[in-house]
Amino acid sequence: MSRGLKLYIAGVVAASAIALGATTLAFPIQGGIGVGFGFLGDQSVVIGLVFWTVLTAVASALPVEMPRGSLVAVSIAPLIAATALGGPAAGGWVALLGTTEAREIRGRIPWYGTLSNHAGIVLPTILAGLVIHVFGQATQDFGAIAGFVATMLGSVAFILLNAALAAGVITLRSGQPFSQVLRGDARGFSVPMTGLAPLGWLMGQIYSIAWWATLVFAVPLYTTRRAYHQYVEMREMFTQTIGALAEAVDKRDPYTSKHSLRVKEIAGDIGRVMRLGEADLEALEWGGLLHDVGKIGVRDDVLLKQEQLTREERIKMNYHPVLGAEIIAPVTRLKRELPIIRHHHEWYNGSGYPDRLIADEIPLLARVLHVADAFEAMTAARPYRMTPLTPEIALGELRKFSGIQFDPRVVDAFVKTKWAAGLHDPGRPEPARQVPLITQVARDSASTATSSGSRPDN
Ligand SMILES: [Fe+2]
Ligand SMILES: [Fe+2]
Repeated sequence: MSRGLKLYIAGVVAASAIALGATTLAFPIQGGIGVGFGFLGDQSVVIGLVFWTVLTAVASALPVEMPRGSLVAVSIAPLIAATALGGPAAGGWVALLGTTEAREIRGRIPWYGTLSNHAGIVLPTILAGLVIHVFGQATQDFGAIAGFVATMLGSVAFILLNAALAAGVITLRSGQPFSQVLRGDARGFSVPMTGLAPLGWLMGQIYSIAWWATLVFAVPLYTTRRAYHQYVEMREMFTQTIGALAEAVDKRDPYTSKHSLRVKEIAGDIGRVMRLGEADLEALEWGGLLHDVGKIGVRDDVLLKQEQLTREERIKMNYHPVLGAEIIAPVTRLKRELPIIRHHHEWYNGSGYPDRLIADEIPLLARVLHVADAFEAMTAARPYRMTPLTPEIALGELRKFSGIQFDPRVVDAFVKTKWAAGLHDPGRPEPARQVPLITQVARDSASTATSSGSRPDN
């Protein structure tokens, strides 16, 4: 575990402990959470706390792991109900005890993981309690509606802080940018989570009338949890299927094994440097995997040929972006990826294929993919060039053809990725130098760029 992560967890745990201690002293647990049993006296607050703790524990069991690594459970509903009924301290204690997982009791989770998981729920619950309390106090003359609004505001505070704390851990653990983790996972769960907040409020209301009737809410909570699970499972299955398809294309040619996977990674890294949105990054990932899918339709004697391609063979080879787009077109979920697949061989100066688009006419994501594709192809062995170029020479080629074959802004972004870390960067070429090269390249658009052996069918 990194030092940063240790400090982060220690900070969050300390903040939770202080918040829980302070709210316990400052906000006595409200009687609303108490439950009445004839033989135990009128309203037992302890039994009420136990009731909500058990309900939260059931709702926290089997959390669903979101694509970027956040864990989501449906426990927000009972937590919000307990907080609205008993105040911030009651919510804090229910959160602390109720989010204990079976894996923790069996000792399967390291102690710091246990602490950070609990703190990541306790702190948002206390914040929600404070929001509900402050807003509720300020608007108490407005009756039940104000109570509802206060609970909703508290829930929003809970969701935001919970998501931010979880994203902090994942960022420090995996190195993915904070905003990206937050947007990536929050997009998937914030809406259904917010949907659970009114359910939490309703649970609290029903509890005040007949505590046992609250148990009926187990059904919607369970179905919501299943819906999360299915969402994640479907997405996973889709990603794996696309990966398998890309692998099938790469496997046809022993030289391009893992090409698509690496292109996907490089393109994603360039996209992150360019601060593209989450949807664009996802399109780059899937587009990266699928960009050469059209090679399925290129015959082996052309695809695997070691010698220079003839004009006819070149035409067949250059048709693969069009073929790829045709193959993917019926998959509506991959609509954003289509232009990437079709235009990943367009040149910035207009001499690429298939549509000879020029500069900004080429979709941005296709320009990004083109750079990633070229770098990967240059640094890997190919039938027509057995010794790969060194990353440094490949970077030199990208710079040399920046403004000709590649979008200069994309090359600038590539230079800032880990793929170019520590390499000598010759910098952007002088604009004056490009003029003769453009004419030269435009004249011979079939052969690529690079004197040292990149070929447009990479
Ligand atoms: Fe290609
Ligand atoms: Fe490629």
